[in-house]
Amino acid sequence: MQRIPEPELMEGREQAAAYAQADFREANTLFINLFAAAFPDFTGPTRVLDLGCGPGHILMAFAENFAGCTCLGIDGSAAMLSHGRGAAARISPSQVSLACRTLPLNNEQDQWHVILSNSLLHHLADPDHLWQSIRTVAAPGALVLVMDLLRPASSAAAAAIVAKYSGNEPEILQDDFYRSLLAAYRLDEIKDQLSAHKLPFTCRQVSDRHLAVWGRLSP
Ligand SMILES: C[S@@+](CC[C@H](N)C(=O)[O-])C[C@H]1O[C@@H](n2cnc3c(N)ncnc32)[C@H](O)[C@@H]1O
Repeated sequence: MQRIPEPELMEGREQAAAYAQADFREANTLFINLFAAAFPDFTGPTRVLDLGCGPGHILMAFAENFAGCTCLGIDGSAAMLSHGRGAAARISPSQVSLACRTLPLNNEQDQWHVILSNSLLHHLADPDHLWQSIRTVAAPGALVLVMDLLRPASSAAAAAIVAKYSGNEPEILQDDFYRSLLAAYRLDEIKDQLSAHKLPFTCRQVSDRHLAVWGRLSP
């Protein structure tokens, strides 16, 4: 099945509210577990950047698992960020902050030792914006984990995944999920992107609907 792109930013208020209220605990736990398995020696504390953080749930889970990290989440949608600000402040404003920024990132002063991203890549019309941004902001030896949806073989397979995992969710969320599956990249496409950017990362399918990319940049 050909990829069908979807809009980059999730700026609709209703769309952002439905996303922020949805139960993504299974995927979020998978993300944190993947990080722990990929980087078993990591204990923090360090500087952590989450690209396309949405309401920041994964970043907050990361901050709770690895105490003492200074975490920044960035997203181009103010509507999405508005749903995370209260929770981020409750954890600790000095530990987790959220900022409205749009990829690609260029001419950055700050460098980050851990770079995370979940479910951003499939939104990007130009996937190079993610990999180039990672190159721009990564400190030497940075740890990187990117997780995303995996494009199914057919639209029927995508509809079956939506029915299985979000059949009880509001219609707007089911529509978003379906469109996201059609917009997702395949493993071979991502491996080509990584090799074009000379990023020495592992890229694997990690569930029936997710893939992950992880690795450590050269020191
Ligand atoms: C599916 S949500 C994922 C949110 C979060 N990472 C999570 O796992 O819950 C994708 C997010 O990426 C953001 N996004 C898409 N394109 C972006 C860009 N070019 N720059 C910054 N954020 C972007 C959207 O606004 C949206 O909040």
